[in-house]
Amino acid sequence: MAGLDALVVGQVARDIVLLVDDLPDPSRTAPVRRRRELLGGKGANQAVGLAQLGVRVGLLGVVGEDEVGDRLLGQARSDGIDVAPVLRRPGTPSALIVDVVDTRARWRYLEDIPEATLLTEADVTGAAEALGAAQAVLVQLQQPLPAALAAARCARAADRLVVLDGAPDDPAGGAELLALADVLRADAREAGLLVGDPPKDAETGLRAGRELLDRGPSLAAIEVAGVGNAFVWPDGEVFVPLSDTPTVDTTGAGDAFVAALTVGLLHHDPYEKIARYAVAAAGATVGHPGGRPALTPAAIEAQLDRIPAAR
Ligand SMILES: Nc1ncnc2c1ncn2[C@@H]1O[C@H](COP(=O)(O)OP(=O)(O)O)[C@@H](O)[C@H]1O
Ligand SMILES: [Mg+2]
Repeated sequence: MAGLDALVVGQVARDIVLLVDDLPDPSRTAPVRRRRELLGGKGANQAVGLAQLGVRVGLLGVVGEDEVGDRLLGQARSDGIDVAPVLRRPGTPSALIVDVVDTRARWRYLEDIPEATLLTEADVTGAAEALGAAQAVLVQLQQPLPAALAAARCARAADRLVVLDGAPDDPAGGAELLALADVLRADAREAGLLVGDPPKDAETGLRAGRELLDRGPSLAAIEVAGVGNAFVWPDGEVFVPLSDTPTVDTTGAGDAFVAALTVGLLHHDPYEKIARYAVAAAGATVGHPGGRPALTPAAIEAQLDRIPAAR
């Protein structure tokens, strides 16, 4: 396990993506225009994005001892992800997420995420060695709070870069999590959970970022839905608008964003550059159905050209 650049702590799931013109009314059917079956779940998506960007990445999550679990791990391995930390849990099917997205990019998720496929605190403390050995630890806050906290504590104790994505359900436990974080990234809804209201524009996005910075992290990245992303650090801030790329499905764009942002931090790039790179990675993910990123240098370059100047 020694020598990993990043370890992602989060969800692994089988993703079924169905592209439809419109959702059928009850008692009606609709043809599926395109179907994809993918390794998915936010943790796996982030790990795939990191691997595509050349990072030696491991994954800590849970799959069942079923055939689906075998396939998910096989796919992750062929993506270049170190799956040694993934737990196989007996007695549970692996998680399943069905992403039904229409031609206007409106997604609906049907999720079968058995409790047993979530990480427990014991799962995480059992992986303390792996957590302490990676340069950066990415923690997805859709996992139960005790597990997320344990991961952040382990990483912090080893002086690793702690990157959080999301918002904890329990604001009380959230205070300790934020205090342990180097980076907090939240989509607009999650930002609303953290600061009271989802930001509506660049100014409220930046203000939310500053408020969150006071709670611990040294970089906050906050989505303003449909507008862009605010980045705030102790001695600077930038608001990066969206790329003008046509959106098919935003699923996984946040995960690609987090992957790219982590890469920029591992490279010690300046925050302004990291900000545009993260938004470019998100932009490179919204043009296809499903959350699996397809990050190549060319795709990111193309997106960088499509992002209006930061303000
Ligand atoms: N055209 C676009 N260009 C760049 N970024 C985009 C574009 N459309 C959406 N995004 C970004 O994608 C991200 C989606 O985040 P999120 O909702 O967390 O996705 P997920 O959790 O499915 O990965 C947001 O940060 C949003 O600003
Ligand atoms: Mg997200």
